Amino acid sequence: MPSEKYMLIDTHTHILPDMDDGAPNAEVGVKMVKALLNQGVRSIFATPHYYHHLETVSEFLNRREKAYLEIMSEMRRQGIAERPIVLGAEVSIERDLQYAQGVEKLCIEGTDIILFELPYSRLKGWEVSVIENIIFKHRLRPMIAHVDRYLDVFEESDFMQLYQIPDVIFQVDASCVDKFRYRSFLMKLIKKGRRVVLGSDCHNMGTRKPDYIKGIQYLGKKLDKESFNKLLYNMQEILNIT
Ligand SMILES: [Fe+2]
Repeated sequence: MPSEKYMLIDTHTHILPDMDDGAPNAEVGVKMVKALLNQGVRSIFATPHYYHHLETVSEFLNRREKAYLEIMSEMRRQGIAERPIVLGAEVSIERDLQYAQGVEKLCIEGTDIILFELPYSRLKGWEVSVIENIIFKHRLRPMIAHVDRYLDVFEESDFMQLYQIPDVIFQVDASCVDKFRYRSFLMKLIKKGRRVVLGSDCHNMGTRKPDYIKGIQYLGKKLDKESFNKLLYNMQEILNIT
């Protein structure tokens, strides 16, 4: 189990109410927050989907602010003293995204990291170009959402292209440890020294509930103590939360 000196961070969640296909209301959002707090998570990135073809960045940020105030008010009402939520977005890669006004404001707040979601198909050259154009222009670091999921659609050459993106961070779903193929991929990323962080990508309290700790527990068992603590420290360092 993690040493107390390292903070557990869920880097990918859909806890904000009525933003996307995640929490339908503040009550469910708070249940998700409580479930993560009970698992020892102390920092929760709220990353609702952003689709550039559906709304402008400023429209999205206005909706997100409203959703944040709602969940914070429900947390206060329930007497939850902790304030673990860090605002962000899961930014869908689209051809025109690089021209979106204020795209840099979609970063995880307080960091230079932007969470991108790739289309669920073989990696295309233009997708990598969009990512690189955005990160070079705004001096950001890209985090690729649930990279384990692409095992089913990518060839090895697609992953090789992703590994070449400067400063790229790989968010792996914590619950991927349930399946041999995905947990082997996670271990391979770690052993190769890729920048890996875990996220639950929770959407609700049912089929896609917050399941963060199982990933941490699995790694705690598989890695020796030093490597495990190094991984936890790396997650904080990568995210500038040391
Ligand atoms: Fe997501």
